[in-house]
Amino acid sequence: MSNDIAKGFPKGFLWGGATAANQCEGGYLEGNKGLSTVDVVPAGKDRFPVLKGEMKMLECDSEHFYPSHEAIDFYHHYKEDIALLGEMGFKTFRLSLSWARIFPNGDDTEPNEEGLKFYDDIFDECLKYGIEPLVTITHFDVPMHLVKTIGSWRSRKMVDYYERLCEVIFNRYKDKVKYWLTFNEINMLLHLPFIGAGLVFEDGENQEAVKYQAAHHQLVASAKATKIAHRINPEFKIGCMLAAANTYPFTCAPEDVWKSMEKDRENYFFIDVQSRGEYPNYAKKMFERLNIKLAMEDEDEELLKNNTVDFISFSYYASRLTSADPNVKAETSGNAFKTLRNPHLKASEWGWQIDPLGLRITMNSLYDRYQKPLFIVENGLGAVDIPDENGYVEDDYRIEYLRKHIKAMKDAISIDGVELWGYTTWGCIDLVSAGTGEMKKRYGFIYVDKDNEGNGTLKRSRKKSFYWYKKVIETNGEVL
Ligand code: BG6
Repeated sequence: MSNDIAKGFPKGFLWGGATAANQCEGGYLEGNKGLSTVDVVPAGKDRFPVLKGEMKMLECDSEHFYPSHEAIDFYHHYKEDIALLGEMGFKTFRLSLSWARIFPNGDDTEPNEEGLKFYDDIFDECLKYGIEPLVTITHFDVPMHLVKTIGSWRSRKMVDYYERLCEVIFNRYKDKVKYWLTFNEINMLLHLPFIGAGLVFEDGENQEAVKYQAAHHQLVASAKATKIAHRINPEFKIGCMLAAANTYPFTCAPEDVWKSMEKDRENYFFIDVQSRGEYPNYAKKMFERLNIKLAMEDEDEELLKNNTVDFISFSYYASRLTSADPNVKAETSGNAFKTLRNPHLKASEWGWQIDPLGLRITMNSLYDRYQKPLFIVENGLGAVDIPDENGYVEDDYRIEYLRKHIKAMKDAISIDGVELWGYTTWGCIDLVSAGTGEMKKRYGFIYVDKDNEGNGTLKRSRKKSFYWYKKVIETNGEVL
């Protein structure tokens, strides 16, 4: 038996930060890019109904403000931004590709060279600073043309278009990118189906059936991507990505414990398929109860079985809480998941409950369940920052949040023996909030001068946390 459990962060640990095309690029129709789902998601009170697929908004109108159109204009600022990440000593940078930048309509036979070149330039810029790109193939992003013509992921044809995208990007970037994630927060499809899968519902249809059929298509597409990736470059590492966090039972009543297990299974379901290669029995039984008959092709089972992921990546912001007792009602929000209020925890200004030990618990649960290396690809505190006249922010609250979570990670590694490849904090540079469309919900080490209404110079400046995180990376997590 080997005794080589790491004492702290292993050598070569991938420290960095994460973004998504739809929340930072802007340039929403530049370089021949087509319209994406996120481009029609407005800020303000209509955002949530649109994200959920309940309010149909297939085009932009003049009454709404659409934050993705300019976002933080990473499209034109990427050199300056990556230089700042390099200055912090980033070892990795997680970003996503905009599908509609590469295939503007999604079903085009040839890719858009301008879009491909844009990502080539970004990867070159990263590599210049010794930063390893970590690429999410789709992060809340479907070409609108596919939503309008085939209903997005409710159609099996999506698997072919996704496969085409993967062939192109894996071949093109095979010498620049090694780490890939197939779908961001794949379980978000159940909670925010428009942003998770481009789904818009018709009155009276069985939404659960549509969602699970779309999920099946994404799971098959993910397995196909894994297969193609390993054929094109056996060195590639392919990960799934879960919006993770254990659901605690409100009390030790067995009914509460049972409910928390059921809640967790809703999310594990996706990773059970991507990591173990088959639908778990509890899911098959659930489909029976809901009278859902998934349309599958003959090859699907074998494909899922033979093409499981290499690592498990996840986001973690807050733990969750549930109760079987309908009288326990006090709720709070958290990453699209409504949850009960935990009296033992404080919450962020947006109601997300802060629970560093919950990260260690979640890491252990995932590692016990899958026995594959983990990668934390999102974590952080969304907060209001007040800059001084130079754009400097004393964000001690952010430092404190991150310090405690990194300490919990360290415990999971050195005390529990969990294998963790890396850590990318969410929104390392301020960007548009996915949930609210706001700019004022900031996560970054780098401040961007822009407000909720779209005003601002877009000037970048370093916050206090910038210097703190630089030190953390420099010392490989020894100085927190
Ligand atoms: C995750 C997403 O759900 O949480 C990100 O992958 C998102 O896209 C992040 O931005 C934080 O959520 P929010 O709503 O604060 O932006």
